[in-house]
Amino acid sequence: MKNRGIELKNLTAGYAPEKPLIKGLSLFMDEGEFWVVVGPNGAGKSTLLKTILGIVPPISGKIYIHGVDCTGKDYCEEKQLLSYVPQMESYSRIFPATALDIVISGLFPRKSRLEPVKENEIKLARYWLKTLELDHLSDKPFASLSGGQQRKVLIARALISNPHYLFLDEPTTGVDIKSSRKILNIIASLNREKKFGILMVTHDLNFVWPYMEKAIIIGNGRFIAGNKEEIINEDVLSEIYGVKIKIVETQAGPIFLIGDKHV
Ligand SMILES: Nc1ncnc2c1ncn2[C@@H]1O[C@H](COP(=O)(O)OP(=O)(O)O)[C@@H](O)[C@H]1O
Ligand SMILES: [Mg+2]
Repeated sequence: MKNRGIELKNLTAGYAPEKPLIKGLSLFMDEGEFWVVVGPNGAGKSTLLKTILGIVPPISGKIYIHGVDCTGKDYCEEKQLLSYVPQMESYSRIFPATALDIVISGLFPRKSRLEPVKENEIKLARYWLKTLELDHLSDKPFASLSGGQQRKVLIARALISNPHYLFLDEPTTGVDIKSSRKILNIIASLNREKKFGILMVTHDLNFVWPYMEKAIIIGNGRFIAGNKEEIINEDVLSEIYGVKIKIVETQAGPIFLIGDKHV
């Protein structure tokens, strides 16, 4: 067992043992690696993230974090190395917290309930808001921000607990193209410059291709995991998404063309 990285051993995930979504997945995600999870809606991508995070219990198999078996444990110190930006549902418009409050709330799992927020913690929250280009919005109500801004606040919230690995579930879905590019650029620089390990669910292969190293493709109750060049090709993507996908090689790297109009 390696005493770094996240290791999945024969992991079977889902909500009913007779109907697993992912069956027998083994892989090793090292520190600082950039992994992408792709596959159609309902395939089990979110469930996979939640299972590794310990939010959903696995049907069988083991999850080791930095060499420690955290499978099914309510408390496992190594889980604190993982942080999570869930798939976006809509947030209540009357939710009163500010962007700064939301970022600080990322520290709460580690604080006792009555412990006041310290000055250095507010500083840290402001540092992450600045890194995510949100400093001008820190005192604005979270509910008043755009979808893209809310995602960035939630990324800052995930980072304040000082994780080694950041799990992101479709961080750009429903966000306009320019804001999506910004968010993905920030995620790429968190990986390259700050060395966070990234495990991200996304459909935006065109943008993440240069940054990602490994992929997990899930669909039709099957999966493939490994180096991106070895597992991602037209046939696999077309089969798993159920639409024709063409990969055009250009000098700037591959471009993924989706749908009947292009191919
Ligand atoms: N808490 C749950 N209990 C039972 N079934 C669930 C639960 N959450 C999700 N599912 C089902 O599991 C399947 C996979 O869901 P999910 O992991 O969210 O897929 P994806 O993220 O790939 O779109 C779906 O059929 C979904 O309805
Ligand atoms: Mg999902």
